[in-house]
Amino acid sequence: MKSIFHYAIAIALIVVMGSCTTSKKQQVFSVNQAKQALDTALVQYKLMYNSIPDRGKYPTSTHKNGKTRWTPPTGWTSGFFPGSLWYLYDYSKDETFRDMAEITNAALDTIKTYTGTHDIGFMLYCSFGNGLRLTGNEQYKDILKTGAKTLASRYNPVTKTTLSWSWGARMGWQFPVIIDNMMNLELLFWAAKETGNKELYDIATTHATTTIKNHYREDYSCYHVVDYDTINGSIRWRGTFQGASDSSAWARGQSWGLYGYTLVYRETKDPKYLEQAEKIAGFILNHPNLPEDLIPYWDFNAPNIPNTERDASAAALIASSFLELSQYVEEPNKSTYYLAAEKILAKLSSEEYLAKTGENNFFILKHSVGFHPKGLEVDSPINYTDYYYIEALLRYIALNE
Ligand code: GLY
Repeated sequence: MKSIFHYAIAIALIVVMGSCTTSKKQQVFSVNQAKQALDTALVQYKLMYNSIPDRGKYPTSTHKNGKTRWTPPTGWTSGFFPGSLWYLYDYSKDETFRDMAEITNAALDTIKTYTGTHDIGFMLYCSFGNGLRLTGNEQYKDILKTGAKTLASRYNPVTKTTLSWSWGARMGWQFPVIIDNMMNLELLFWAAKETGNKELYDIATTHATTTIKNHYREDYSCYHVVDYDTINGSIRWRGTFQGASDSSAWARGQSWGLYGYTLVYRETKDPKYLEQAEKIAGFILNHPNLPEDLIPYWDFNAPNIPNTERDASAAALIASSFLELSQYVEEPNKSTYYLAAEKILAKLSSEEYLAKTGENNFFILKHSVGFHPKGLEVDSPINYTDYYYIEALLRYIALNE
C-alpha cells in the first residue's frame, strides 16, 4: 500500500511539476541575461551622462546626420534620461548613478508649473517619481504634487478628458486627445493618494473611461487622436498624427494604451480596466502582422510590411506592460503574457537591438521609430525605449528572484 501511495504522490508531483513547467516553458531569456543587459546599460548611460554638453540638455534620440538629438526640459521626452538613471541606481545601488540622476532631475523642477503640455506625467513621474521612490526626498513630493495640479488644469468636464496638444487649432482641432495621455494618469493617481484629493482620482478614472468609449474600435485597436467639441463634448474627428493612416493601428499608440489600462487597473482595481488591458493585449498578440519575434512594425497596418521598420519602443512598452499584467490574471493568460514579455526581452537583448558599449550615441537600444510620417526618428535609438526596456528588465528580475 505504502509503495502505491508513494507512486500516486510521485505521479501527482510529476503532474504538478509538468504544469509548472508549462508556465515556465520555452524559457528564452534568463535573469543572468537581464543583468548582462543592465550592466551594458550602466556603461552606456555613464558615457551618455559625460557626453552632455550642458545641464539644460537631455539626450533624446539620434538625428539623421548621426548626431545626438537633445531636448530642453520642456520637451516631452526630458524625464526619461533621469528616469533611466534612477532605475540604474535602483539596480546597481551605485551612488554615482544617484548623483547623476539628482543632477539631471534638477533642471526639470520648473516643469511643475509648465501648462504647455499634457506630458507632464512622463516628464515628472519618470524623473522625480522614481527619485522619490528611491530616496524619499520631500522636495520631490512637492514638485510632483504641484505638477499633478498643473496637469489637472488641462481637464475639461465637458469632454471628460485631459487636453493633449495645446497647438491643436493649427490643425483645425478644438480639443485633441491622444492615446498617449493614458500614461500621464499615473501622476494624478499618485497625487490623489498622497494628498487625499479625490478630484485628481476622478479626473484620472473619468479620462480612462471616456477613452475606452471614444478611442477604441470594435477590434480593440485604438485611434491615435480624438478631437472633441468643447461645447457639447461630441466627437469632431478621429484619426492619426503619427500613425500610417486614420484607420491604422499605430504600434506605440497600442502600447501606450496597453500600459495605460494596466496601470489604471493597478491603481483602481476596477475590473473594467483589466478587461480593457486584456482586450488590447489580445489585439496585439493575435495580429497577423505581428512578427514571430514579437517586435512590432511601427504601425500594425504600415504599408510595405514586411519591408518596413520595426519599433523597439513599442516592444519595450509591451514587454513591461505584459510583465505587470501577468501578475493580475490567472492561467493561461498569465503565462501567455509572461512568455511574450520574455521573448521580447530576449530579442531586444540580442546583438540586433542591444548596442555595443561606446556605440549608438550611448543609447542602449537601436531600431525605434518616433514619427514615421514626418521622417523623424525612423530607425533611431530613443530615450523612452531605453527607459521602458530597463523597467522591463527590472520587473523581469524581480519576478524571478
Ligand atoms: N507621445 C508621443 C509619442 O509617442 O511619440
